[in-house]
Amino acid sequence: MSISTKVKQSLSQASFIRKMFEEGERLRKIHGPENVYDFSLGNPDLEPPAAFKERLKELALSPIKGMHQYMSNAGYPETRQAICNYLNQKDGLELSINHVLMTVGAGGGLNVAFKALLNPSDEVIVNAPYFVEYGFYVDNHQGKLVVVKSGPDFQPDLNVIEKAINEKTKAILLNSPNNPTGVIYKAEILQELANLIRKKEAEYGTTIYVISDEPYYSLVYDGATVPSVLKIFEHSLLVTSHSKDLALPGERIGYIVVNPKLPEAALVFDALVFANRVLGFVNAPALMQRIITGLQGEAIGTEEYQERRDILYNHLTSIGFEVNKPQGAFYLFPKSPIPDDVAFTQAAIEFNLLLVPGSGFGGPGYFRIAYCVSRETIKNSLPAFTKLAKKFGL
Ligand SMILES: Cc1ncc(COP(=O)(O)O)c(C=O)c1O
Repeated sequence: MSISTKVKQSLSQASFIRKMFEEGERLRKIHGPENVYDFSLGNPDLEPPAAFKERLKELALSPIKGMHQYMSNAGYPETRQAICNYLNQKDGLELSINHVLMTVGAGGGLNVAFKALLNPSDEVIVNAPYFVEYGFYVDNHQGKLVVVKSGPDFQPDLNVIEKAINEKTKAILLNSPNNPTGVIYKAEILQELANLIRKKEAEYGTTIYVISDEPYYSLVYDGATVPSVLKIFEHSLLVTSHSKDLALPGERIGYIVVNPKLPEAALVFDALVFANRVLGFVNAPALMQRIITGLQGEAIGTEEYQERRDILYNHLTSIGFEVNKPQGAFYLFPKSPIPDDVAFTQAAIEFNLLLVPGSGFGGPGYFRIAYCVSRETIKNSLPAFTKLAKKFGL
């Protein structure tokens, strides 16, 4: 077989999420879909907002001439302007369209950012637990992902980050609200991180970028807010998408914002536009750009997700699980009652519960519950969690 050796290795280490997905298919055939509690995938079950469908219909019925053609590789100016208006108003920024590049989801945006910034063997630091695709994305562009443990409550641990920074550190990759923990990083910790980065940049004479991956930034609960990385870190890029907040993961629409305070912001922007083109994305999906222009600031399902979180959190803690109450995203990351989280999630299958081991996110000893499934599924799953807890003596 003549495929790449590296890809061959990656294929042989199929992800835990993929394995659970296949397990789910098997169980659904045996027990029926309503009796399988599949918490494995971060795929929103809600429909996009009504305004999305209205705009789609409008565009189909009254098409704009040329709306299916190529455009500037950065995306439509009016879409980028709408994003600027929203972020400027929300976070008190001074963005112009030359700071915003439309991308093929957050995954596409991260690849564009790494392509534009990394030299071979440049290092990118990330807090564990983390979204596992990061390792592949960084590797795509010959960088090295350096994984560091997070501190209490899954907040960034500045001591370990300080030790991990060296002259090869090109970026620190943040993800808040976080997948898999649901945690929002605290403003004061990010502020201290900004001081640390400034100190290290002076020490090594380098630029250390903060790349903030924020596809969940609108999915926050209990009145929480997500601190603006563009305000806190001068050398920063914000990467996000509407996969989660507008429930559009299949439509592949996202964007990157370059911090205007970057000394070489224009050059970085040109590099990103170039990377978007030569990675073969060319531009973000045209129809989706038109639609999301009028949907900035909308998020679907925050109240619903909060209720689901509460139902699960209250039940799990009442039956003895140790859980950090998350304020964002749609994940819970409880502690496994045994150190071997893989064995624990394997045992959960007996009760038709599909959970992902924390090891799949660089967070062994925990497991992830993606609660972007119907409330009915959640309610029906509660007795199964109780049986699972009893099995492990909780
Ligand atoms: C933290 C994080 N980043 C990026 C992505 C990819 O998002 P997109 O579908 O917009 O590419 C996901 C998807 O689950 C994610 O959880």
